[in-house]
Amino acid sequence: MLKHLLSSTQIGGLKLRNRIAVAPMGVEIAEADGHVREPVIAYYEERARGGAGLIITENTSACYPRGANSAHELGVSNDGFLPGLRALTERVHAHGARIAIQLAHHGKVGRLDTQHGRPLLMPSTPRKKPGHGGPLDLSREEMGLMAAAAGNRRPTIQEATEEDLAELVEDFAAAAERAQRAGFDAVEIHGAHGYIFSEFLSPAWNFRQDQFGGAIENRARLLCETISACKAATGGAFPVWCRIDATEFGEDDGIRLEDAQLTAELAVKAGADAIHVSAYAHPLGAGFTQAPIVHAEGGFAGFAAAIKTRVTVPVIAVGRLSPEAGDRLIREGKADIIAMGRQMLADPATAQKLSDNRSDSIRPCIYCYTCVAQAFFDRSVRCAVNPVTAHEADLAQRMREKSPHPQRVLIAGGGPAGLEAARVAAMRGHRVTLYEKGDQLGGTLRFAALVYEPNERLLNWLEGQVRELGVEILLGRELSFEDVRQQQPDHVIVAAGARRENPSIPGSDLAHVMDGDTLRALLTGEASSAGSQSLGAFDRFVIAAGRRLGVMRSPRRLRVLSHRYMPIGERVVIIGGGLVGIELAEFLAARNRQVTVLEEGEIFALQMAHPRRWRVLHDVRKAGVELVGRARVDRITERSVDFSVSADDDKVETRSVEAASVIVTLGLEPNPDLAARLKSSNARVVSVGDCTGVGYIEGAIREGFEAALALDSSDA
Ligand SMILES: Cc1cc2nc3c(=O)[nH]c(=O)nc-3n(C[C@H](O)[C@H](O)[C@H](O)COP(=O)(O)O)c2cc1C
Repeated sequence: MLKHLLSSTQIGGLKLRNRIAVAPMGVEIAEADGHVREPVIAYYEERARGGAGLIITENTSACYPRGANSAHELGVSNDGFLPGLRALTERVHAHGARIAIQLAHHGKVGRLDTQHGRPLLMPSTPRKKPGHGGPLDLSREEMGLMAAAAGNRRPTIQEATEEDLAELVEDFAAAAERAQRAGFDAVEIHGAHGYIFSEFLSPAWNFRQDQFGGAIENRARLLCETISACKAATGGAFPVWCRIDATEFGEDDGIRLEDAQLTAELAVKAGADAIHVSAYAHPLGAGFTQAPIVHAEGGFAGFAAAIKTRVTVPVIAVGRLSPEAGDRLIREGKADIIAMGRQMLADPATAQKLSDNRSDSIRPCIYCYTCVAQAFFDRSVRCAVNPVTAHEADLAQRMREKSPHPQRVLIAGGGPAGLEAARVAAMRGHRVTLYEKGDQLGGTLRFAALVYEPNERLLNWLEGQVRELGVEILLGRELSFEDVRQQQPDHVIVAAGARRENPSIPGSDLAHVMDGDTLRALLTGEASSAGSQSLGAFDRFVIAAGRRLGVMRSPRRLRVLSHRYMPIGERVVIIGGGLVGIELAEFLAARNRQVTVLEEGEIFALQMAHPRRWRVLHDVRKAGVELVGRARVDRITERSVDFSVSADDDKVETRSVEAASVIVTLGLEPNPDLAARLKSSNARVVSVGDCTGVGYIEGAIREGFEAALALDSSDA
């Protein structure tokens, strides 16, 4: 039991039932007028019902539409917004949670200003041209979507005059007072992430000579005046606090921790009732996953602790904090409240499950960045592991109810699509039997779990859920026509996975060439014979021993042991630089293999959400992996891979790279075979997951989920 995290606390006079906060997240579910309607209310209500003590709303535009990042951002700039906001606070309060509104002005990232042809409000004209930290690693389509989100216009800039700033402070104070009337319990001023207050705080963006520039007291003036004005407008007892950047990564002259400590002290003097500690990085690219959407577990914990040494008000920590890490921070006096972002998209009931001592049933975030990637394209948030997120108004209640027409369902395939279909079908009261031809559940997710640890948590969760829900699981059994004939199910869901069509590369039949399936079988001990032709006697012995000892069943243990031993040569060439090839490259490079990845296209890991792509490509490049784009493999020999690289001017260069092991990750194709075989039975047959087209984890989960929900509507 995490008693520190689950203990009650207060911010000023605001009592919280526990110390778990939903971090502010711009989910962009609102329509393009900034008004709260049912989808937004249902999204927050689900998180209130889920037990969090405090919900901090997404960034809400104090001056909407001015300074907003998107037309879909919530607004609170006039009384017209009140009815929706009021309905929101009422529904959240009904579940015992408290709700703070995050007030924002996006300054230099106010995309809606650019879209509408307004200049971006900034402290000063920037001295640097907007740039990028390294290779762009974005597809043309993604760049097109990003440009469209700013109305395909070039931003212009307006250096804020003192009148502009006075107006800004007034707008925030009016917005705070309006939020109070709407029933909010507190206001958080967004002073972080490169938005207007953060720009003023940063010496990298603020070159002013007036009272708002220079020393930290001046740079913090706008934030402090805004805090004081919000406090005054709301009567003094109403809690107002700010979120600040503890550090600005990637800028030599950006915000430093010492600045942030002083800012925190000044903010408290100005009336702040708490300090929420985040961080920022510039420019975009891998930096985005350093801050604010931090990839390292507990990446900002030290920052919260450093701020806490300087203020007596509560400190809110954030940044990929697990409940256990959060509990520890509170116990050690390094933070008072723990905000969680992505985890609350994956499982809005995280807090409730913790207090019910059911932490095993918490659906884990896999840190795939699908959620936040949508914001770049001005699209509503999506969660790869929770299809209900952003669709609560339609789906949340339905997920709590049993189906009015329980069905008998057979599922073929225990990968992510089959497991999710089984989970949802069983939850809704259908009688489910799951057939898995291998001797373990997980399918492609088991391999994904080996190379990327958060996926293992998802696998464990899915497996635990289907067992807990009483799904009958038949391992080592491929669903046959005969089974269907005998069992007479109402429905069959086929989730049998993709089929592999190996590309015809000369030399691909050599013993040291493996495809993804062989490699998976080798590393996980899934099949006894697969891949064994490429192994020597010693390798075979170690793998057999590992299988006997059960080592191969645990991705975690395999990850550890594979640092010491793996039946893969020192020099590896991976053919295919998609998601699988790149995750594999990362895994092998971390185990001292020298890896080259050959990709026919220009962009690597295109199937990953681009922020995760930025992070992993940054990491593999740093680890010395050679990434060669526009590369066509000519042949594989005993010792090398020969390939041709085409340049922009269509010139072709031929190259050769040494390889002791070659791994081909290409060639996954939809596999309609099993569904076709079962179609002639009386049951309704539907296919989901990779057998319909490779959709990776998100596609598998979504299709499995949808097929299970559709069982209701297609009842007899
Ligand atoms: C989809 C998404 C939207 C976000 N929008 C906001 C926002 O509106 N305001 C803000 O201060 N931070 C925003 N953040 C940052 C989060 O509040 C949080 O600081 C960050 O995700 C790190 O916490 P986590 O590791 O628990 O997700 C957003 C993060 C995500 C994933």
